[in-house]
Amino acid sequence: MTRDFIHPERYSKSFELYAKALKVIPGGVNSTARAAFSGWEPHPIFVDHGTGSRLVDVDGNEYIDYLLGLGPMLLGHRPERVTRAVSQRIESTGTVFALPTEAEIELAEAIVEAIPSVDTVRVVNSGTEGVLYSLRLARAYTGRTKVIRFEGQYHGFSDGIYWSKHPDLALAGSDARPVALAQGPGVPHEMGDSLVIAQWNDLAMIERIFDENPGEIAALITEPIMCNTGCILPNAGYLEGLREITARHGALLIFDEVITGFRIARGGAQQVFNVTPDLTVMAKGLGGGFPVAALGGRREVMDLASDGRVSIAGTYSGNTIAISSALASLKYLKDEASYADLYRRSDQLREGLAQLMVEKSIEGSVVGVGPVYQVWFSDSPIQNYRDAARHSRGDVFRIWWEEMLDRGVLFHPGHLENLFLSFAHSDQDIADTLERADESLDAVLARSVAA
Ligand SMILES: Cc1ncc(COP(=O)(O)O)c(C=O)c1O
Repeated sequence: MTRDFIHPERYSKSFELYAKALKVIPGGVNSTARAAFSGWEPHPIFVDHGTGSRLVDVDGNEYIDYLLGLGPMLLGHRPERVTRAVSQRIESTGTVFALPTEAEIELAEAIVEAIPSVDTVRVVNSGTEGVLYSLRLARAYTGRTKVIRFEGQYHGFSDGIYWSKHPDLALAGSDARPVALAQGPGVPHEMGDSLVIAQWNDLAMIERIFDENPGEIAALITEPIMCNTGCILPNAGYLEGLREITARHGALLIFDEVITGFRIARGGAQQVFNVTPDLTVMAKGLGGGFPVAALGGRREVMDLASDGRVSIAGTYSGNTIAISSALASLKYLKDEASYADLYRRSDQLREGLAQLMVEKSIEGSVVGVGPVYQVWFSDSPIQNYRDAARHSRGDVFRIWWEEMLDRGVLFHPGHLENLFLSFAHSDQDIADTLERADESLDAVLARSVAA
């Protein structure tokens, strides 16, 4: 069944642009995540502009924005300090030189200072690249091939890791022994042999995998919070356990902090949970909305890139747009941003939403850390992807999304995605959102009962 907006007439210009886009852009969009089939039915909403915590679409509808570009707009839309720094840098120096600039050293120093486990760092262009290079480094460093990854996580779209993101459980093997499933045709199937798929929050399974693959595991890669399945938190001691087991077996621990980095604390999840990975990938929190990512970690591992044993390349890596945006953004996060305020507002919204669900006897929860979380409509707790696939009510979530959108609140329509807060969201935004959530949840009750 194709789903529709509550008031389709409010999206007529978006609809027109979508029809036009379909003729020249496959699916009408430039990323799978924006496609109608990824949840944006009946068609994606075309954006006119964003300012601070607000987004305005081409039909003139204004939203309080919790989509935040899927995370990069941590400072809000068009953050003045970053936008100004980038435009000045472009106008005064240019963009790409195929030679280093002094600003690159300044940025590396700022990242090393902010992220506890990072001794040295390379700047790249996307989270996908950062992950790809981290796996290459880990394999080169250990001389081993296999990598443990978790079902339900996303580490970008490179062939070696674009597996088992949200697999169909009918095909994904037993709970105890999940099998690797490629994201689709075109991903070489033999690459699955280099992956071992695990369930999140189950240390015994990781122990067993190491026992069954002695001397073969190069690395375990994980999001420290499972943001790509609706923000599942690690159980107490889980990340510490992963650290201990990987170290004991001579494998590297890679934290994919593409979402959590600079967001849940300036030092990322590793600062919050006090666990030190060998390598860290950072991206969405880094550049105030500009395309920039980084990969850093232990000096002796990163040193493989110093003499070309491992190649970390890229014509655009370290371009002045990336460097100046990240520098300005990190300066803002260090000097001006108040994480305490961000947490206060985030907690107000999270607790407010949870309270509304209790008052209305809606089964579910609101789970996350600080400015990243998800609302679950589920009758049982969710510890891993399979719990989510079995218990989370994506159909109810979609109704909630339609009702909130209709009232001018935007987030991703998928129940396995996240709500993001920015430093630009105000107390008034939170109060307005809760008021609209109150009405929307009433409508969710009425419509789910009627369905
Ligand atoms: C945890 C995580 N890792 C990696 C990526 C890939 O990053 P990018 O889209 O910048 O390639 C994403 C993107 O959503 C992500 O959420």
